[in-house]
Amino acid sequence: MPEIVSAGPDLGEADLRAFEAPIPRGVNLDQATPLGVVTEHAGGFGGRPGIVGARPDGSAWSPRFAVDEMHLAGDHEVQFVLSDQIAGLGLELRFHLEHTLTMSATLTNRGDTTYTVQRLAPSLPLPSHAEDLLTFSGRWCREFQPQRSSFEGLTVVENRRGRTSHQRVPAIFAGSSGFSEQSGEVFGVQLAWSGNFEIAAEALPDGRRHVQAGELLSPGEVVLDPGDSYRAPDLVVAWSGQGLTGASQRFHQVVRSTATAGTERKVVCNTWEAVYFNHDLVTLQALADAAAAVGVERFVLDDGWFGGRRDDNAGLGDWWVSEAVWPTGLAPIIDHVTARGMDFGLWVEPEMVNPDSDLYRAHPEWTLTTAGYEPILGRHQLVLDLGRTEVRDLLFGALHELVDEYDIAYLKWDMNRDIVQGSHHGHAGAHGHVLGVYELIDRMRSAHPGLEIESCASGGGRADLGILRRTERIWTSDCNDAVERQSIQRGFSMLFPPEVMGAHIGPERAHTTRRRQDLGFRAATALFGHFGIEWNLLSASEADRAELASAVAVHKRLRPLLHRGRVVRVDHPDPAAIVHGVVSGDGSHAVFAYVQLTPSSSMVPLSCRLAGLDPDRTYHVTVIEGIDCLEPHGREQPAWIEQGTTATGAQLVHRGIQPPAMHPESVLLMELVAS
Ligand code: GLA
Repeated sequence: MPEIVSAGPDLGEADLRAFEAPIPRGVNLDQATPLGVVTEHAGGFGGRPGIVGARPDGSAWSPRFAVDEMHLAGDHEVQFVLSDQIAGLGLELRFHLEHTLTMSATLTNRGDTTYTVQRLAPSLPLPSHAEDLLTFSGRWCREFQPQRSSFEGLTVVENRRGRTSHQRVPAIFAGSSGFSEQSGEVFGVQLAWSGNFEIAAEALPDGRRHVQAGELLSPGEVVLDPGDSYRAPDLVVAWSGQGLTGASQRFHQVVRSTATAGTERKVVCNTWEAVYFNHDLVTLQALADAAAAVGVERFVLDDGWFGGRRDDNAGLGDWWVSEAVWPTGLAPIIDHVTARGMDFGLWVEPEMVNPDSDLYRAHPEWTLTTAGYEPILGRHQLVLDLGRTEVRDLLFGALHELVDEYDIAYLKWDMNRDIVQGSHHGHAGAHGHVLGVYELIDRMRSAHPGLEIESCASGGGRADLGILRRTERIWTSDCNDAVERQSIQRGFSMLFPPEVMGAHIGPERAHTTRRRQDLGFRAATALFGHFGIEWNLLSASEADRAELASAVAVHKRLRPLLHRGRVVRVDHPDPAAIVHGVVSGDGSHAVFAYVQLTPSSSMVPLSCRLAGLDPDRTYHVTVIEGIDCLEPHGREQPAWIEQGTTATGAQLVHRGIQPPAMHPESVLLMELVAS
């Protein structure tokens, strides 16, 4: 079994004898017990095995592989073909190293009976100075909340909700003691998978430690017939010698290198919080007019346009345009939208069915439920079994017809409940469902090149590198409250780049928290992401609309930088404020935000250091105009706020810049241009 001797910087050619561990006195096994890429109990490894499974008679439960072949594929990839002749198993390992390391493992049953896979989870060994962990917790409307702990014993992050989930994120960071955004050595591991998962950080009593990640499989969920294979989800590993921000930047490069990258992220107007289920052509046309007038480029018609979907009790599964609300079809609204230079997007939730729907009445057997048990509903709906070909075919037909008939540039693909006791022909079906979703999306994409897709699951419940290989955007959270968004988006940015981070300006009073915030603060919060509006503009004042138009214009001007540059989250000593920015690849242009969330304990705000700039360049620093988000207070503010200033990158990185005294919920937005 191949072993990773060192993870981290490129150390060049090495004589491996320098790193060989002794076999000390007192251990009870007479040889070294390697921590392989797939850890093997059969090799004496005493921690969590990376492969667990068995044949019907219980045999082959503890394989030990040997390398048959090794191939170099280009400059960046190495592949190993392994087998265990006794167990009748083959294993292929692939390592692709470019910005990040992608580790792939595929297990093949070469025996003549079935092989049940319970776990196939590769490991990344870590140095013993990786003493701290960062994982994520969360909930609906509060996704991506980082959690710190020490790397001791066994930490397992487990998700059994059938989708990526709000509660756990398939990602972990391990790093040197007290690592921060700019300091410490940091290793990040993400699992490219949108279903159940388990990520373990294990520190062994012998001093070794590793992070192991794979799909969480239920008993009997993956049973390989002779000749069949199981491909484990890829692990994507990022390393940084200069803190968490550096590891995030590497993860961002991964998303930026996928097929979906590079498209201009259009400013969106989404109808959900504007009208909810009250679809009415005249109102929506007026909303589209108002959206176009402030500079919106894409109008997305949310839930409520189809079947019997007048509220969330009915209609999912019936993907035809409702004559009750759209008597002449969607053409009148789409034509209206496109005539104003915007493109049109449509909300769908293809994986779901309401018991009150024609689809369910015709095919109750198509759901992910278990025969004989009363199913648990979620938002009055059930999950369809996308492991079934006939279900995928039906959904493809329905979606294809819509996108074919209408001028639809974008689908908001929602998934609003967990999978509970979901069986596919009697056995656990979450694995097959996720593969089915991937296949359906891929099929839609190849039938409709150029169609963009947003991944939504009641907000950020399906955000991972697996879904991001086939979608352009994540709906980060159903929460549009800008204070909440500051922390949600900061957590999100640890894993994914801003151009895939759906960020909308909501109404003054947030629907999910009932808190009120100024338009400037809401705009400065949404500015960095895939920007949009989710607000009934028909009730907005003329002044608000003018302010909104100005914010949209600022976003459009800065978007090439914001969506291609390096994201920097700055270590800032004041817990009342957070600082983040984006620096262009060549270091010549940057935008930073000093966000005053709550009142600071000091009278004068602490100096704000701007990490990530080129120390050798000289920058002209100005406050960005066009977004009214700065609420200074006090007698006199620093002169540079009005006049701008000039400083070297080294000065800004080490000494920092002085923010004015600010009220909470206001933002100092700075633009830096190198001379
Ligand atoms: C989910 C989404 C929302 C909206 C509603 C529609 O909650 O996250 O943005 O689309 O569904 O029902």
